Amino acid sequence: MFHLPHIPPQRLPAVLRGMPKAELHIHIEGSLEPELIFKLAQRNGVALPYASVEALRAAYAFTDLQSFLDIYYAGASVLLKEQDFFDMAWAYLEKAAAENVVHAEIFFDPQTHTARGVPMGSVIQGLHHACQRAHQEFGLSAKLILCFLRHLSEADAFATLEAALPYRHHFIGVGLDSSEMGHPPEKFERVFARCRELGLRVVAHAGEEGPPAYIWSALDVLGAERIDHGVQAVHDPVLLRRLADAQVPLTVCPLSNVKLCVFPSMAQHNLRQLLDAGLCATVNSDDPAYFGGYLNENYLQLFAALDLEPRHAYQLAFNSFEASFADEAAKRGWERQLKSYFEGLREHD
Ligand code: ADE
Ligand code: ZN
Repeated sequence: MFHLPHIPPQRLPAVLRGMPKAELHIHIEGSLEPELIFKLAQRNGVALPYASVEALRAAYAFTDLQSFLDIYYAGASVLLKEQDFFDMAWAYLEKAAAENVVHAEIFFDPQTHTARGVPMGSVIQGLHHACQRAHQEFGLSAKLILCFLRHLSEADAFATLEAALPYRHHFIGVGLDSSEMGHPPEKFERVFARCRELGLRVVAHAGEEGPPAYIWSALDVLGAERIDHGVQAVHDPVLLRRLADAQVPLTVCPLSNVKLCVFPSMAQHNLRQLLDAGLCATVNSDDPAYFGGYLNENYLQLFAALDLEPRHAYQLAFNSFEASFADEAAKRGWERQLKSYFEGLREHD
């Protein structure tokens, strides 16, 4: 790492907000703000079991992953038309650009929509057009990752893959999300093997609530190149060494972990431990509309609670580029941009 300029602690929040960064773990359906949920419900004539935006927001008191997912899937029920998917993704991308996100790899859950009769093409094309526009307007490169819902069957995942293949050029990879406990990665061994044959990049949620064994099988059975969450890895020293040695990135989501009671408070989050163990950990927002903040808020609250320093800010932003699926030239470009940003802070010393 190059020699960082001295940055007084009171300047750190502005540095975190201003530094260029990538976001690698954002569920686009988790960016649906209550106001947009109500607007789309009205536009599409969908009845909601909540009387108002305030009543919906008041329901955002989660005790674990499942208690969140129940509300998250209910919120997504207002999405019907291609325009709805565009509007949702555009709202996220405008916020991301304003937070100095220069690259985003965005999860979407097609089964949540196709099960309600929404055509796969409406989902993918709506999201894709928003990604295209973000690149044109903001220079933000945005890519899509299709996630399979792990509480459904592998046969359902295969049917979803088949339905998505006409749009293969619009997504770069596949992931695995939804209810973790009781749905180990092994359940999806064959469909992930097929995805790898198709040249898709592979990620999987593992070790969010589930045991280290799920991280091992995400790596060894699914061939995951990145682990989403992965915070339970600290309970297995051999696994920690494997993740560090192979520099398998973890996409950690601090506010999500606190809101879903994975950690009792931000001060007890283990991100510093993961970095100290030499892992390529990154900071991400997961479902920002539900967990109290977008990417910069995750950085700000994490740094305040763990007393992290400017060198951690540089490392985490650097890791976000390294861990991305962008090509080497793009990574080097963003890493140079990051270095120039920190060097530019010197002038204000
Ligand atoms: N889908 C949306 N957010 C998720 C999370 N944090 N874990 C698993 N599945 C999800
Ligand atoms: Zn997630």
